[in-house]
Amino acid sequence: MKRSFIEEFEQSLHTGNLPEPDIKACIGILVQDATNRRLIEGVAVQLELQPIFLTANQATPEALIQCELIVADEPDARSIRTLLSQREETGEGVNPAVVAVVPRTPDSVYSYDKSELSFDGILPLPQTPAPVVAQLGLILYSHRAFARRYQDALEELSLNRRIFRSVTSGISVADATRSDLPLIYVNPAFEVMTGYSFEEVQGRNCRFLQNGERDQAAITLIREALRDGRETVAVLKNFRKDGSAFWNELSLSPIRNRDGALTHFVGIQNDVTARVEFEAALRESEKLAAVGRLASSIAHEINNPLESVMNLLYLAERSDAVVDSRTYLQMADRELQRVKLITSQSLRFYKQSTRPQAIACTELADSVLDLYHSKLQNSRVAVERRGRSAQSIVCMESEIRQVLNNLVGNAVDAMHGQGGKLLVRTREATEWRSGERGVAITVADTGSGMAPETLRSMYKAFYTTKGIGGTGLGLWISSEIVARHRGRLIVRSSQRPGASGTVFQLFLPFQGLTP
Ligand SMILES: Cc1cc2nc3c(=O)[nH]c(=O)nc-3n(C[C@H](O)[C@H](O)[C@H](O)COP(=O)(O)O)c2cc1C
Repeated sequence: MKRSFIEEFEQSLHTGNLPEPDIKACIGILVQDATNRRLIEGVAVQLELQPIFLTANQATPEALIQCELIVADEPDARSIRTLLSQREETGEGVNPAVVAVVPRTPDSVYSYDKSELSFDGILPLPQTPAPVVAQLGLILYSHRAFARRYQDALEELSLNRRIFRSVTSGISVADATRSDLPLIYVNPAFEVMTGYSFEEVQGRNCRFLQNGERDQAAITLIREALRDGRETVAVLKNFRKDGSAFWNELSLSPIRNRDGALTHFVGIQNDVTARVEFEAALRESEKLAAVGRLASSIAHEINNPLESVMNLLYLAERSDAVVDSRTYLQMADRELQRVKLITSQSLRFYKQSTRPQAIACTELADSVLDLYHSKLQNSRVAVERRGRSAQSIVCMESEIRQVLNNLVGNAVDAMHGQGGKLLVRTREATEWRSGERGVAITVADTGSGMAPETLRSMYKAFYTTKGIGGTGLGLWISSEIVARHRGRLIVRSSQRPGASGTVFQLFLPFQGLTP
């Protein structure tokens, strides 16, 4: 059976075979009484310790930490503890064991042990040498065992500190047991990213980085996750100390103690400004590409009525009867009305409203279908408009128009000019998960349907089945726009021969955005 170090020590006392200390250790002696001092000196020799006699003036921290063990009269032992306590707090290294010498009374050990925990031992003197050797030996051995473990722990701590300091992501730690989650640690990468030093942020809630930009959906997500003690990731607009803005991808994790109680939150911060700006540029370029694609179909849509107008004006000019001329002119006017409708619908795609507006869903759907009028006719696609919900939704009009344009454009492409049916339906609906009321817009086609791989990847950026004809950004941006409106985009698709097709259902809450 493995023996404890105490048993080993007792055994070695018994055999007189004391193990060699690793280094020649010193014992600091600060004892007034000459007999007691001599006794400790003798004991030190037996324990193979080098005695160093100190006076109160010489007991500086530098001198004290040379010793492994210090034996001092109780008032001096107390001052020594105070001198050394600073080192302990900063984890600089292992302090010597401090033993206080007290006058020997029948209950001196007992009463001191209970009342005074700051010493590593109490030595009532006078006593015979043997029990003093045993007692100081035990203290020395347990202190050595403690020092070894403490040193290992310090090394591990120092390694962890170095890791924390060397990572390039910001790391912040907040105390979850105190109100308003004050920061208790930030690493150098956090200081570099934000421009604030640890001293400037210590004790503050990290929301100061938001600098008044508090109207961010991501803040609500974070607040709820912190309240529930959950992990979360969100991208926030933050500001450095010099006032410059950056996009901060913040990952938060709760830390719990062994009993499962929440003690800390750890935040990892990454500056993702370049990525966010790149995505914004992609979004802009897809908008332009969509407009470019529309331009050819708009030209086509306008060309037909304009040709009719030219023919009708020619006929009106040549006609002798005023009645006939008037009829031709009225017909020409109707064709021009159509041109006007097409131009005003196309202009809406360019219109960059910065504020959400209330708009009827049927109007949105019709405006998109108007622009596909000739293309649908030429591709022999029959359009069925159903439902016709008169309800309005609050949205960024041009963005939802872009989503519908994308869905209708994909539906027409899926029919590959072979003809088919396009169903567009609007109706009031309830989102089953949130119970929120809104409008469901269905865009269904009888095209070729999507393969499982396409269904899995279609919302990813740059995924396209249209070769060089597609940017692969349409559905990626659509899904993002829908998410921003707190809506949902659901798809069903089948490639079954004779019954193929795709159904997209877009749900938008009545008040997805605040006007
Ligand atoms: C450890 C930790 C780190 C955080 N880091 C950031 C940060 O870098 N940027 C930020 O805007 N918010 C950060 N937050 C979130 C805010 O401190 C705050 O919790 C958030 O704004 C939501 O709460 P509020 O509505 O009370 O402000 C952090 C929170 C914790 C607990």
